[in-house]
Amino acid sequence: MTAPTFILSPSLLSADFSRLADELAALEEAGLTWVHLDVMDGQFVPNITFGPPVIASMRRKSRLYFDTHLMIERPERYLSAFRDAGSDLICVHAEATVHLERAVAEIARLGAAPAVALNPATPLSMVEYLLPQLDMVLVMTVNPGFGGQSFIPFTMDKIKALAAMRRERDLSFRIQVDGGVSPDNTAALVAAGADVLVSGSAFFGHPPYKERLDVFHAAAATRAT
Ligand code: DX5
Ligand code: ZN
Repeated sequence: MTAPTFILSPSLLSADFSRLADELAALEEAGLTWVHLDVMDGQFVPNITFGPPVIASMRRKSRLYFDTHLMIERPERYLSAFRDAGSDLICVHAEATVHLERAVAEIARLGAAPAVALNPATPLSMVEYLLPQLDMVLVMTVNPGFGGQSFIPFTMDKIKALAAMRRERDLSFRIQVDGGVSPDNTAALVAAGADVLVSGSAFFGHPPYKERLDVFHAAAATRAT
C-alpha cells in the first residue's frame, strides 16, 4: 500500500512575525508548497492579525501558494483586495456572510480558488449546495481565533461525512482541516479524508522545518489510531 498523500499548509500565525520574509524562504527551502495565512478582524474572532498590505509584501518575497483563511465579518467587502495582494486561494467562513454563494462566485471571478470554512458547530448542510463550485472546504477542528488550541474530537465525524458526500456526488474539492493538527492525529485525519492539513504551533515550534515536514509524512504512513 502506498503512503497516503496530503499537503501540509503551515499556519504563519505561529511564525516569527518580525522575520516573515525569512520564514517564507525557509518554508520553500524545506520543500513546503503552501502557506496558510490567518486573517482576523477582532469581530468575527477575538484576535487581530494582518491584512492585504502585509500579504502584498510577502507576495513579493515568495512563490508559495497563498492559502488565505479570512476570519472576518462580511468578507465580500475585501475579496478583491486580497486577490490583488496575491492570494491564490481565498476561504470565507459560512457564518460570516449572509450571501455565501455570491462571495464564492466573486472569488472565482477574481481568478482565485474559492473555499468555504465551517466552524466546529456549523453543520455541513450550510455548504452542501455549493460543493460543486468549491475548490476546498475547510473543516475547523477548533473554534477559530488562536493558535495552540486542542483538537475537538467530534470534528473527525464531520470530516468523514464530508468525504462521503464527496464520493457519493463524485466531486473533487479538497478537504482542509485547521486547528490542533499534529503528527499525533495526522494519520487519523488523512484516513478520514483530509487532503490539506494546516499546522501552526505543532509545525513552527519544531524546527528545522524539513525534518518536521518529514515527521508529518512519516506519521501519515502509520496506521490511524
Ligand atoms: C485558528 C487558525 C489556525 C491556527 C492553527 O484560528 O485558523 O490556522 O493558526 O494553529 P494550531 O495548529 O496551533 O492549532
Ligand atoms: Zn486558519
